[in-house]
Amino acid sequence: GAHVLIDTYGRVATDLRISLTDRCNLRCTYCMPEEGLQWLAKPDLLTDDEIVRLAEIAVTRLGIEEVRFTGGEPLLRPGLPGIVERVAALAPRPQMSLTTNGIGLKRTAAALKAAGLDRVNVSLDTLRPDVFKTLTRRDRHKDVIEGLEAAHDAGLTPVKINSVLMPGLNADEAPDLLAWSMEHDYELRFIEQMPLDAQHGWKREGMVTAGDILASLRTRFHLTEEGAGERGSAPAERWIVDGGPHRVGVIASVTRPFCAACDRTRLTADGQVRTCLFAAEETDLRGALRSGASDEEIAGIWRTAMWGKKAGAGLDDPSFVQPDRPMSAIGG
Ligand code: GTP
Ligand code: 5AD
Ligand code: SF4
Repeated sequence: GAHVLIDTYGRVATDLRISLTDRCNLRCTYCMPEEGLQWLAKPDLLTDDEIVRLAEIAVTRLGIEEVRFTGGEPLLRPGLPGIVERVAALAPRPQMSLTTNGIGLKRTAAALKAAGLDRVNVSLDTLRPDVFKTLTRRDRHKDVIEGLEAAHDAGLTPVKINSVLMPGLNADEAPDLLAWSMEHDYELRFIEQMPLDAQHGWKREGMVTAGDILASLRTRFHLTEEGAGERGSAPAERWIVDGGPHRVGVIASVTRPFCAACDRTRLTADGQVRTCLFAAEETDLRGALRSGASDEEIAGIWRTAMWGKKAGAGLDDPSFVQPDRPMSAIGG
């Protein structure tokens, strides 16, 4: 139909991921270099008003049902609580979630919940403060742990944890991370490392695979596959741990791509539509916004962009090239 974001493969995007900033207060080695990156200039960023307007167009004219705020680190955006509050007031009201490194959550979780945020996903790759410091180049482990607790206390649930395992650093921690997450009522998911780092240092041989992760977990837990149909379009495949009720997820973007079920559209902090994490092209909405386009004109540009979405990420194609934009500027 005319009022949804559909592509030539029949996939319908109902999930919008909005990157609020490309900046971050960590320097995860699998993401960006110690010195940081060339950040987007302030005038190039969408304003809070522009973000809310695009969210409104997305839910009222394009069938978007769920909005996720990402970064960089989205808690670095001062206007976040206000944006959440205004998006929560839209009709129909979308589900709203946040993907964060957790550092600012202790301070903001309660206010974000009050503003209408439904839940959070927090990145935590290790339970060891020294490994955290090596991996993220910042000594902030305690802040993340406290942020997780604050999110749970505030009712931003289910609180999910995203972990990327790196050989020689934290690859041996999968069972410990799972035991700890279950104890605290967090839903843990492991993510295969993707070729989206700013340094272009990703190598398939250097990656911990879903197979490796499951084998490691099975040394301590009994895992049974969740029933068919329960996954929907979620990137995470889930396993029931020791008969339940806890689950553990694996996001196997590299070894078991889920592109055929993808329901996402993405907006970068500078107002470009991306059809895919790995898309080579973007479509500019900021220019249209700032030159006075109507809501329906903007919706039309967005629909046309999504119609051109490729079948898949193409990681296995000989012609695969990593996108110019790194993960931190796409929004994960
Ligand atoms: P929920 O399952 O709804 O809680 O969210 P999510 O897992 O989709 O979102 P989150 O931001 O926590 O992302 C977890 C990981 O999945 C990150 O590494 C993302 O980059 C990755 N991811 C999210 N969407 C896609 C996608 O469309 N394709 C691929 N390959 N990876 C994705
Ligand atoms: N591959 C896989 N996951 C990544 N993340 C950041 N960079 C990569 C990468 N190259 C993770 C973060 C965060 C989530 C949004 O994506 O750790 O949990
Ligand atoms: Fe920041 Fe996330 Fe990149 Fe780590 S992975 S540096 S937390 S944007």
